[in-house]
Amino acid sequence: MKLAKYVSKKKTLVAFTHSFHGRTLGALSATYKKKYRNGYEDWLISDTKWVKYPYCYRCPFGEKYGSCTFKCISQMKELIYKHINDIAAVIIEPILGEGGYVPAPVEFIQELRTFTADNNIILIFDEIQSGFGRTGTMFAMNHYDVVPDIVALAKGIASGMPLGACVAKTEIMNQWTTSSHGGTYPGNPVTCAASMATINVLQKEKLLENAYEMGQYMKATLKDLMIKYPVIGDVRGFGLMIGVEFIKPETGDYNTELVTKLRVKALEKGLVLISCGDHDQVIRMIPPLMITKEEVKKGLDIFVDALRDALNG
Ligand SMILES: Cc1ncc(COP(=O)(O)O)c(C=O)c1O
Repeated sequence: MKLAKYVSKKKTLVAFTHSFHGRTLGALSATYKKKYRNGYEDWLISDTKWVKYPYCYRCPFGEKYGSCTFKCISQMKELIYKHINDIAAVIIEPILGEGGYVPAPVEFIQELRTFTADNNIILIFDEIQSGFGRTGTMFAMNHYDVVPDIVALAKGIASGMPLGACVAKTEIMNQWTTSSHGGTYPGNPVTCAASMATINVLQKEKLLENAYEMGQYMKATLKDLMIKYPVIGDVRGFGLMIGVEFIKPETGDYNTELVTKLRVKALEKGLVLISCGDHDQVIRMIPPLMITKEEVKKGLDIFVDALRDALNG
């Protein structure tokens, strides 16, 4: 965000509903969730404009993917046009993390790329959670066949060692003159070595392929469960970044209570589950990329067992 503002000399950021970009003041300015913003509203970058995220399962325009008119795309363009002279960048998670493990549809991301490029607006992807093999490809952007201007990376980049990276096209990064950005820890040799080792292991042990295959298997199994358990409203994601959204079948409402119970029951049986979504209505499945089929099966067995227990009280 800092680089985009420096290069464009403009002030406005376009971000998305349900987004999560971090807890520091700058990143928080583009983070939607009130839980994180509460207490800081007066101190954030005030000039963020919000576009509705294309959350197809709960389409904010009441459309249905497959037969829709992509109102998400027209509203995104409308908002950008309205502020076109002030916009420094558009920042998006191609797959929402905290917001509910929601992949944006391919049509949306491709149109966003074309539209921002045509209008000379910098496009930032936040791949802090989705990058480094998590989705069965090196980056989530590979599923969309687009390249942003700037990408933010962290988490899997060094297998847990503290490292983050801001990667940009050369013509953008070169405009950041010496000392216009820096810090105490950048380029830490130990964490950079951990990242190099991570890249080697991803290649040598074919972990992208494993994430893809195990993800396909998990998704198919979870989708089968939807028939028997109508509380599972949606199963979605790429590779080993899978969201399972729980609903109240009578109304389709968020089923936060069940997710909470399920997590407790699963933990009692030795399986750690983490939730996400604005109402904590989604279980995120993010096992290690090296997980074996036996381990996936074991995890899913415990998941079903815990779900049965949670439904029975
Ligand atoms: C998509 C995304 N962006 C950014 C972050 C980084 O957040 P923070 O800087 O608060 O660790 C996270 C962490 O969960 C994330 O999932």
